[in-house]
Amino acid sequence: MDESLDRVTTTLDRLADIGFLWHEGLLNRGGPHRRLKGFHYPISIGEDECRVFGKLIEALKPEHCYIVGNAFGFSSAYIADVMKRHGGQSVVTLDNQSEGAGQVAAKIADQLTQELGLAEILRNKKGSSPQDIPSTTEREHYDLIFIDGLHRHPQVTHDLEALLPYCGPKTIVVFHDSWIIGVPEAVDRAKQEGFRCLWVPTSCEMIFATRDPELWQRLCNIFPDGIEDRGKRNYLYGWTLYARETVTYHLKRMLGRE
Ligand SMILES: C[S@@+](CC[C@H](N)C(=O)[O-])C[C@H]1O[C@@H](n2cnc3c(N)ncnc32)[C@H](O)[C@@H]1O
Repeated sequence: MDESLDRVTTTLDRLADIGFLWHEGLLNRGGPHRRLKGFHYPISIGEDECRVFGKLIEALKPEHCYIVGNAFGFSSAYIADVMKRHGGQSVVTLDNQSEGAGQVAAKIADQLTQELGLAEILRNKKGSSPQDIPSTTEREHYDLIFIDGLHRHPQVTHDLEALLPYCGPKTIVVFHDSWIIGVPEAVDRAKQEGFRCLWVPTSCEMIFATRDPELWQRLCNIFPDGIEDRGKRNYLYGWTLYARETVTYHLKRMLGRE
């Protein structure tokens, strides 16, 4: 485990009762993912996906990052912690607290920020994408943008479109959950805007998009297992895996084991 992941997971375990799912990954090897015990949603990115962000940040040293979809702060705390160690200056998150644990999750995200000593660079804001993006951005451009809010069509495309004005020539946009309807459509929209998109086989699959040819080459070097234009997954495949987990979750709850 890398030092940031160790810090974030240890602190989160102290602050909240955490449940694990997809222990070995959902679509590809990876995981586990986390959620707050007693709530089905929100679900965090996998530990493997944190490590993927870690690799990216160590190599490219983004200074400013904007994240849509914060939940209980797992990915943002990790990203901010690694960025802090590599010269990063700001991470802004936007979440409307609409999913599952909502406000409870947001409170944990804020505690995690404080406990990890990240308050200087990590600012969690309450609001909805796309309408609150202009009032919550703090800069003209972001080096790294992570879109992990509501996974629906055309919401993810709206998230992207609202963030396009904050993309400079060297911005990297990251999408999570290639298997959910809405994400591939947003990736197609990014391609129309001149982004090249690298699909990386993590637990829930991530897509890294950039318009800069040199950065594109660097992304390909950082993620040698990445594929451009992988095409759409059969949505049914991901949903079948997901449904299996959801049924198990509700059965466990009925039996008092979750
Ligand atoms: C998949 S979770 C984010 C997980 C988080 N990135 C992590 O790995 O720790 C999605 C989050 O997006 C938030 N959300 C849903 N719709 C939103 C919207 N329109 N604007 C902002 N946040 C939204 C939900 O409240 C939820 O917390």
